Amino acid sequence: MATQVERETETSEAQIAVHWREEEYIHPSPKFIGQANASDPAIFERFSEKNFPECFKEYADLLSWDQYWHTTLDTSNAPFWKWFVGGKLNASYNCVDRHLAKDRNKAAIIWVPEPEAEDTQAITYQELYRRVNEFAALLQDFCGLKAGDRVTLHMPMVPELPVTMLACARLGVIHSEVFGGFSGAACGDRAADSGSEVLITMDAYYRSGELIDHKIKADEAVTVSSEKGNEIKKVLVWQRYPGKSSSPTPMVPDRDVFVNELLNTYRGKIVPPVSMPAEAPLFLMYTSGTTARPKGCQHSTGGYLSYVAGTSKYYQDIHPEDTYWCMADIGWITGHSYIVYGPLALGATTVMYEGVPTYPDAGRAWRIAERLNVNIFHTAPTTIRMLRKVGPDEPKKYNYHFKHMTTVGEPIEPGVWEWYYNVVGKGEAAIVDTWWQTENGGFLGSTLPALQPMKPGSCGPGVLGINPVILDEEGNVVEAGSGRAGNICIRNPWPGIFQTVYGQPERFVEIYYAKYNKNKDSKDWHDWPYFAGDGALQAADGYFRILGRVDDVINVAGHRLGTKELESACLTIEEVAEAAAVPVMDEVRGRAVEMYVALKPGNKPSKEIEEKVGESIERLIGKVARPKAVWVVADMPKTRSGKIMRRVIASISNFTDVGDITTLANPDIVDTIRHQVQAEKVSRGQQPRELSPTELEEIKRFGQAE
Ligand code: WT7
Repeated sequence: MATQVERETETSEAQIAVHWREEEYIHPSPKFIGQANASDPAIFERFSEKNFPECFKEYADLLSWDQYWHTTLDTSNAPFWKWFVGGKLNASYNCVDRHLAKDRNKAAIIWVPEPEAEDTQAITYQELYRRVNEFAALLQDFCGLKAGDRVTLHMPMVPELPVTMLACARLGVIHSEVFGGFSGAACGDRAADSGSEVLITMDAYYRSGELIDHKIKADEAVTVSSEKGNEIKKVLVWQRYPGKSSSPTPMVPDRDVFVNELLNTYRGKIVPPVSMPAEAPLFLMYTSGTTARPKGCQHSTGGYLSYVAGTSKYYQDIHPEDTYWCMADIGWITGHSYIVYGPLALGATTVMYEGVPTYPDAGRAWRIAERLNVNIFHTAPTTIRMLRKVGPDEPKKYNYHFKHMTTVGEPIEPGVWEWYYNVVGKGEAAIVDTWWQTENGGFLGSTLPALQPMKPGSCGPGVLGINPVILDEEGNVVEAGSGRAGNICIRNPWPGIFQTVYGQPERFVEIYYAKYNKNKDSKDWHDWPYFAGDGALQAADGYFRILGRVDDVINVAGHRLGTKELESACLTIEEVAEAAAVPVMDEVRGRAVEMYVALKPGNKPSKEIEEKVGESIERLIGKVARPKAVWVVADMPKTRSGKIMRRVIASISNFTDVGDITTLANPDIVDTIRHQVQAEKVSRGQQPRELSPTELEEIKRFGQAE
C-alpha cells in the first residue's frame, strides 16, 4: 500500500483529495417500506454481477413482446451493445394499448395548464389511444413517414407532446424532441443533424402568465436547417387552443399546417403498432459536449423501454394506483424517461404541468399536489432552491402527502436536501437522489428507497445491475473510502445505455469508451468501461458523491451547456475576436454562465457589445443559456501555445485563488482583468459566498479537459 506521501505525489488533476463531512444516514419510514415495490433484499442478489447480463430479463419482462428475444446482450460489435436481440415490440403498444383491457378509463396523463382558471385535463388510456392512433394515421398518410425516419419535435409541456412521441413510436419513426425553451436556431441545427424533413411544433404556450409565440421559432428552425443543407418540407403546428389562433406568426402556404384541422380527416382511424426490433432506435435526444456540434444520443426501443420501466418501478416506486408527478420538462431526458415512457409503460397516472412552478405564486406547485393528491414527486435541485427561496414555509399550508420524492440533474447541497426532506416531504417521504445523464436512458446511481438509507449530498451506490468504479487518469481504481476523487465510470453495459451518437459513431467511441479501453478489438464488455465525464468520490460505504463535470460543460439549473457552443455563438458577432465561457456559483441555478470576450482591433468595449453577446446566445441557443454577466476584456490569459486559460478566468469570476500563472504568455493581464471584474461585481453586490472544497476543486479543474 502506498504511503500518504507517495499518494500525494501520485495525485493527478482527476484524483484530488476532497474532504467533506459525512452526513448521517436517514431511514425511510416503516410505512414507506411496507408498501415498496422493492422490499426484499434478495433483489441485490438477483442483480449481482454474477447474474449479469441475465438479471435484466426482470426488467424486459415488465414489457409485452411481440416476439421474445434469444440473446440478452450481444457484444460482438463492442462497444455498440445490442440488448434483447431477436426480440420485437412496439413502445406505443406497451405504453398505451396493453393497458386498455383493464384500465381504459383510468387517467394516463393529467395535464395542468399554467393559467389557474383553465381546467385540468385528465386523459384516460382510452382517450390517449385514440389521440395517438389518429395522429399516427396523419403522420403516415399526410407526411408519408415510415419506420426509421427522423422527425424533429419542438414542443412545450402540453399533452400533444407525449401524443406526438407515442404516435411516432407507433410507426417506428424516430422522434427527436428539442426542449421548447431552446431557440429556433438550436432546433434547426438539431433538425439538420438528424435529417428531419418534418418539424412538429405548437403555436404558443404559457410561461409565467404570458402566452408566448412559439410558431415564430419554427420559421427560424426551417431557415437554419436549410442553411445546413437539410430541407424541412412540412411543419405541423398544434394549436394551444384548437381552432383559435394564439400566434401572430403567419403560416407558410404548402409547408405549414394546423394539426387539429387535419385531424378531422383521421377521426377514428386505428393504426396497427409496427413491431420493431428491440435494437431499433426509439428516439434521439441532443445534448452538449466539448465541441460546438451537439450530440444526438440515440436510444433503443427494447433496452431503453425495459430500463425505464424497471427503474420507474423500483426507484420511483411507482404502483398502478399512485399519482406520480415528475416536474421536469419532457424536452429533457428526465421527461422522456420519467414522465412519458417509464410511468406509461407501467400503466400509471403521470401528471404534466405546463408552466413555471412559482407562477402565479410560491404555492402553485403545492396546490397542484394537494388538488390531484400527488403522492410521488420528482424535481431538480435548482427548482428546490427556487421554491425554498420564494416560499420557505409554503408547503406547510397545503394538505398533500408525498410518500416518495426524487431529485436529479445536479449535486444537491445537504442543506437544500434537508429542506426538501423536512418541509416539502414533511418528514414522511423517502428521497432518492438519482445520478445519470442524457446518454444513459435511466438512473445509474441512487439508493433503492426501502432497502438502502439516504445520505444527504450523496446519490448512493450504483443502482441494480450497474457497477460503477472510480478510475484515476491512468485507469487505476481509486478505492472506496480513500477520500480521493476520480472519474466515475460504469464497468458494465446496461439496457438503457444509448446506442451511438447519431451520425458520429467515432465520437461515441472516442468520448465515452476510448479513454479506458486498452484493446479496441475486444468483444468482452469487461474491456470497455463507460466514461461518464463526471468527477466523483466513493465513501467507504460505497455511496458516491458526484462532484460535477470534468469536461468543458457547465451545468446551469440542471441543463448541460457546452462552453464551445456558448463561445461559438459569441464569435458570430462582428466585433468579437475571442470568447470564453466560465461557470460562476449561483444560489438558485447551481451554476450560471459568465462570458468573457476580447474584441477585434479598432473596437471599443461598450454596453451594446455586452447586449449583443447576450442576445446572440439567446438567439442561437436559448434563454436558458443567457449569461449572467458579460465581461469585455482587453485580452484573455493564455498559455504560450495560445490556449485560453479558462480556469484562471473562472477563478476571477468566483473570487478564488487564480493559482499558478507563471507559465502564461501574458501573466500581467490576470491582474487587469481581476480588478475590472471584481470591482464591478463588488459594486453590484455579487461576491459569492465562500466556496466549499468541492466547489473550489471544480473551478480549479475547469477547462482542463482538452
Ligand atoms: C449531468 C448530466 C439525466 C438527468 C438530467 C441531467 C449531472 C445529473 C445528478 C445528481 C449530481 C448530477 C452530472 C451529469 N447530474 N444528476 N443526482 N447528482 N450531479 O442530464 O443534461 O445529461 O446532465 O448532470 O454532472 O453528468 P444531463
